[in-house]
Amino acid sequence: MTATVIHATSEKGGATKTTTSVNGAAALGLMGKRVLLVDFDPQFNATTACGVDPAEVPATIYEALHHKVKINEAIVKTPHGFDLVPASRDLTGFSDEVDREADSRYDHLKFALLPVVEDYDFIVIDAPPTLEIFTLNALAAATDILIPVQPAGFALGGMTEMVNTFASLVSSGINPNLRIAAVVMTMWDGRYKADNEEFAAIAKEFCEQRYVPYLDTHVRLSRHFKDAEDAGVPAVLHHQKNKRSPVHAYTKIFAQVFGDERA
Ligand SMILES: Nc1ncnc2c1ncn2[C@@H]1O[C@H](COP(=O)(O)OP(=O)(O)OP(=O)(O)O)[C@@H](O)[C@H]1O
Ligand SMILES: [Mg+2]
Repeated sequence: MTATVIHATSEKGGATKTTTSVNGAAALGLMGKRVLLVDFDPQFNATTACGVDPAEVPATIYEALHHKVKINEAIVKTPHGFDLVPASRDLTGFSDEVDREADSRYDHLKFALLPVVEDYDFIVIDAPPTLEIFTLNALAAATDILIPVQPAGFALGGMTEMVNTFASLVSSGINPNLRIAAVVMTMWDGRYKADNEEFAAIAKEFCEQRYVPYLDTHVRLSRHFKDAEDAGVPAVLHHQKNKRSPVHAYTKIFAQVFGDERA
């Protein structure tokens, strides 16, 4: 079986893409799945969120993309129940080096991952926000996208853009088989219940009209995410014993969307 390749995507910065990717990888690991997290962002936030220092690793995704190493040689075993292909600042160079006229310009990541797609149940790709060469490579490599959205007007606009982008990726042939696995509301601030519910209702209606799955499980705003980032441990593991922590929404969401009982 080849891996389900998940990409949490949004054209907005700070939309909880990395948090969703790192905690999703950890949640799937807790479910006993074989998981590879791929950091495809020159900011390397997913790498540091796993407690890995890019200066200490033998290779990163950048060397694998350039065929300087095999992808297996860039895989780090983390203590978090999943493997990681780290990134470093070097990855910035990829953007300048890609031949933007070539038909294959969006297929570099997909091809780099090919040798390991049979080794994992899930590959989770983290990429930067703006829709350019990194994100388009991630979207071309993915089988399933998750769209995180926040209860705010500008974020709903971002969700709408992303759903429209999805449609153009499918129709343009960049990734004809791509699916939207779910839209997930994150950073749900309990202090603004009425406003949030209004935004959630708009998001849900938009999704229903386009047959896009919208999840009723929201990820609440919590400083537990920042604590975990500082500790270099995915939040669902860092706060594993605190069953009331909002971070466990991720465990529920990933079980619901990608678990064995999924529809
Ligand atoms: N539910 C939450 N509650 C509080 N803080 C959160 C929550 N989810 C994420 N954060 C914090 O918000 C910040 C931005 O999140 P994150 O880095 O995941 O966004 P991103 O979409 O990956 O950003 P970028 O566009 O820069 O890649 C981080 O500091 C993270 O810890
Ligand atoms: Mg990020």
